[in-house]
Amino acid sequence: MKKSKVNTKKRVIVFSVLAVLLIAGVILFCLFGLPYIRRHYQTVHVNRAEAAAMEPVDMGDMKGLIVYFTRVGNTDFEPDVDAVSSASLMEENGTLIGNAELLSEMIANATGFNTYAIKVKDRYSSSYEDTVAEANEENKSGTIRELDGELPDLEAYDSIFLVYPLWWWTLPQPVKTFLTETDLTGKTLYSVVTHGGSKFGNAAEDTAELTAATISPDALEVYDDDVTKAAPKVAAWLEGL
Ligand SMILES: Cc1cc2nc3c(=O)[nH]c(=O)nc-3n(C[C@H](O)[C@H](O)[C@H](O)COP(=O)(O)O)c2cc1C
Repeated sequence: MKKSKVNTKKRVIVFSVLAVLLIAGVILFCLFGLPYIRRHYQTVHVNRAEAAAMEPVDMGDMKGLIVYFTRVGNTDFEPDVDAVSSASLMEENGTLIGNAELLSEMIANATGFNTYAIKVKDRYSSSYEDTVAEANEENKSGTIRELDGELPDLEAYDSIFLVYPLWWWTLPQPVKTFLTETDLTGKTLYSVVTHGGSKFGNAAEDTAELTAATISPDALEVYDDDVTKAAPKVAAWLEGL
């Protein structure tokens, strides 16, 4: 009788501890796991025109070109947007929009400058994890991703806005290819980096090694989850240039 009372007490304690652990687990998952899943495995719906709407910014007599690279358009995504494994990709009416692409659109809307999209011949895998692995591999081996289409004629421009996602704390290999294959002597380069937390990583140092352009110290970084609401930050940055 005495023994069974002790056993029951033990069971109650064990169940109570398990219940507390379970509740704590659920709370931690909701706080940290859900935002992670949302950011890394779900496309976020966006009203593109609203997100990229900007008041005009007077850039003086600057002749700028916006050059951007983004995962969208450089990846073999499945036609079904819902099946896409993505890191903070955005979608409007079934069309995917990359973070760097939306940032470029904001800059274009504010300045009226033209945009040029860097495209690769050999696209990256549709899986986010595979792209991360491919990018790591080509960084290590120094493999050059051949670019698709003609490079832009830069004659008419004195300033280049280079907009790209941070990959492995540096510029994606195709952006490095772009800098290697263009002569930016005499032009000013403004970097706009979108990232998942590493801010500029080593991008500034790596850019300096790849181009003859004058690199402006006024670079802009935007956390990937904040891109849809980055318009005021982009406007303030442009106004300060
Ligand atoms: C291959 C790869 C490597 C990445 N490496 C980093 C990194 O080192 N640091 C970081 O903060 N974010 C990293 N990210 C996250 C992206 O920089 C971030 O989600 C960015 O906003 C994506 O922009 P996009 O939609 O224009 O491609 C990486 C993403 C990919 C696909």
